[in-house]
Amino acid sequence: ASGVPAVVAIDGPAGSGKSSVSKATAVRLGYGFLDTGAAYRALAWHALEHGSDTSDATAVLEVFGDFDYAISLDPADRWVRVGGTDVTAAIREPRVTDAVSGVARVPAVRQAVNDLFRRLVASSGLRGVVVEGRDITTVVYPDAPVRILLTAAPEVRAARRSAELTSQDAAAVAAALHKRDAADSTVVDFLTAAPGVQVVDSTHLDFEQTVDAVLNVVDSTMGAR
Ligand code: DC
Repeated sequence: ASGVPAVVAIDGPAGSGKSSVSKATAVRLGYGFLDTGAAYRALAWHALEHGSDTSDATAVLEVFGDFDYAISLDPADRWVRVGGTDVTAAIREPRVTDAVSGVARVPAVRQAVNDLFRRLVASSGLRGVVVEGRDITTVVYPDAPVRILLTAAPEVRAARRSAELTSQDAAAVAAALHKRDAADSTVVDFLTAAPGVQVVDSTHLDFEQTVDAVLNVVDSTMGAR
């Protein structure tokens, strides 16, 4: 082995099962797991802590200047820290979810964050890493040996999301999901597969079947791992 981790790149919209499927895939492969959305969420949390306007690119860039961020690559022990603070749970709060598209829209932030991701993976000492996000197959790792777009029909994604968020009204969840997809897709297109990217559609698959479908793609593209 060359010592460079093999990357399994997985993109897809919210509610496609991307995060849990990517994590399970990493466990099954004995690979690390990098949730890139968590980095954008951590930055949104950091900006909110500073009382910054997350829709203002200049304000976002300013707080990005002292963004000190660490993330676990262990799929069995996931955590995110900003400064010394554990923000693993806080970055899932609705106020962060509402603010995240704004910080993810700033090109200079995306470039810097992408460099950070590549350095993290390269220095991980791991055999492989499943890297999950919106632009991993196209921008961060366009040359990864395995590139997958995980999709599902919009109504199925909304139903899964509202099952997760039991306290919230299903129609409101569907509307929020649609709004975030629309905001996010102005920055990166994660709804159509780039050339060479394999689509796994989970609309009619349960969780285990989706993980198996992803592992099949990994096996057929990488062979023996
Ligand atoms: O996957 P998620 O919902 O945790 O992602 C949070 C936000 O970060 C999402 O609204 C889009 C953005 N994001 C991005 O722009 N690029 C990535 N590679 C990952 C996430």
